[in-house]
Amino acid sequence: MATMEVKISPEDLAATKSSLQVPEPTIVVIFGASGDLTKRKLLPALFHLEQANLLPHEFAVIGVARRPLQGEFAQDMLDGIVRFGAAKADDPKLADFIQRVRYHAMNFDDRDGYAKLDVLLSKTEQEFGVKTNRLFYLATAPEYFSEIIQQLGAHGMAEARHGAVRLIIEKPFGHDLASARALNDEVNRVFGEDQIFRIDHYLGKETVQNILVFRFANGIFEPIWNRNYVDHVQITAAEDIGIEGRGPFYEKAGALRDVVQNHVMELLSFVAMEPPVSFDADAMRRERVKVWRSIQPIPFKDSVRGQYGPGKVEEDAVKGYRQEDRVNRESMTETYAALKFDIENWRWAGVPFYLRAGKRMAKRVTQIMIQFKEPPQLLFKNQLNRCKELQPNSITMRIQPNEGISLRFGAKVPSPNMEVCPVLMDFNYADSFGKSSANGYERLLLDAMLGDATLFAHRDGVEATWTLLTPLLEQWAQSPPQDFPNYAAGTWGPKAGNELLERDGRYWHNP
Ligand code: BG6
Repeated sequence: MATMEVKISPEDLAATKSSLQVPEPTIVVIFGASGDLTKRKLLPALFHLEQANLLPHEFAVIGVARRPLQGEFAQDMLDGIVRFGAAKADDPKLADFIQRVRYHAMNFDDRDGYAKLDVLLSKTEQEFGVKTNRLFYLATAPEYFSEIIQQLGAHGMAEARHGAVRLIIEKPFGHDLASARALNDEVNRVFGEDQIFRIDHYLGKETVQNILVFRFANGIFEPIWNRNYVDHVQITAAEDIGIEGRGPFYEKAGALRDVVQNHVMELLSFVAMEPPVSFDADAMRRERVKVWRSIQPIPFKDSVRGQYGPGKVEEDAVKGYRQEDRVNRESMTETYAALKFDIENWRWAGVPFYLRAGKRMAKRVTQIMIQFKEPPQLLFKNQLNRCKELQPNSITMRIQPNEGISLRFGAKVPSPNMEVCPVLMDFNYADSFGKSSANGYERLLLDAMLGDATLFAHRDGVEATWTLLTPLLEQWAQSPPQDFPNYAAGTWGPKAGNELLERDGRYWHNP
């Protein structure tokens, strides 16, 4: 079907970008900078901001990690920007940008290391001839968060001496309610809530932000976005990759902690929230938290766990989870989770929300499907022959890949009788707006530098999602699964995942 073709030229985009604010002079300090995240996501995103002229003139990145790296670090970052940021190695801005990248080797518990880091920060400011804002980014393994925060506090580095001091914390933010609360208390002892930016990179994705635009910038969807018209909602966050060498981390996390508590719950909040009074951090936070707090406790019977065994992904034979590097051969960690839950409020009472997330599934796809109720009278039900069933209307938001939105409805098949088949009206991002190499961190890093927390998690939200999921995790721990591994790599998950919907007369819509 024909989409509304709005082609935006690079000049239009440049003009839009120039209306965005450029942050004040800033030094970004990344703890755990030798990890994958820095070269795959953070530096490419910062370089994209540089390309869009959205970084201040006085800007530097200081990578902090234990290994003695120095010059190799900048080279490694340059390679990462080219490889993962789709930048050309001869981009004239790249050589200048990489001059702004420095490295500081220290152990995270080394008091002296922080004092030296503080000196390096001051020296960099002297070079610039101005006092800068400081943005500390915790990209280490979570067990170091607390030490780093305390040391920053002890060295007076959390205080705004001349410019703003802010802290970005990567997920996982705690591993259950008690640990999340303890971490919140710890961070709040050193940093004020307005200095803290708990990052969830899903909130930086254009398609996730577009859920809000789709719902609240259009007049025709909101009136039907409720229990009167919606039959159920499905959220799928499927990955075809496995755990990518992250055995020790994943063994402790599992699918529920790794992606459901954060990414999937954020998607859900955008789909289910009430319109906020404005698009600012407080108003958005209030509405998102209300959704999570309205979710009823999840009964054990409405949850499914899975773990992949050996299988095939796109014709390639792949290992089972228990055969992965540094994974217990009898591991009980789930690599798949599916849940059904009810949001008890005026908008959603009685509308089930089903969600699933898994590794090594048939395809990489993150999508949200809103299935509407059937029409009250099925006038054409006896007229179908080529299409087995006339499916009810649905809206599918494809978060990734093939980003877009489609609406399914029934249409008359050209023929002498009243034959009806489902067809799709499709909006595709790349067709309308062109392809983008942004990875989601651009927007979030820029917002954090500007002090805008609208697209970040707040203390209340983190605790609300853990309040919901911790009792389930405890029940899971008490009754270890008997059937692991229960799905083959490269499939749509365990049979029980399908049964969760089938028992309600529904099924997962696999793309
Ligand atoms: C991360 C998880 O937060 O999100 C990973 O730790 C997961 O396990 C990743 O693969 C998925 O992100 P994306 O952007 O590829 O969907």
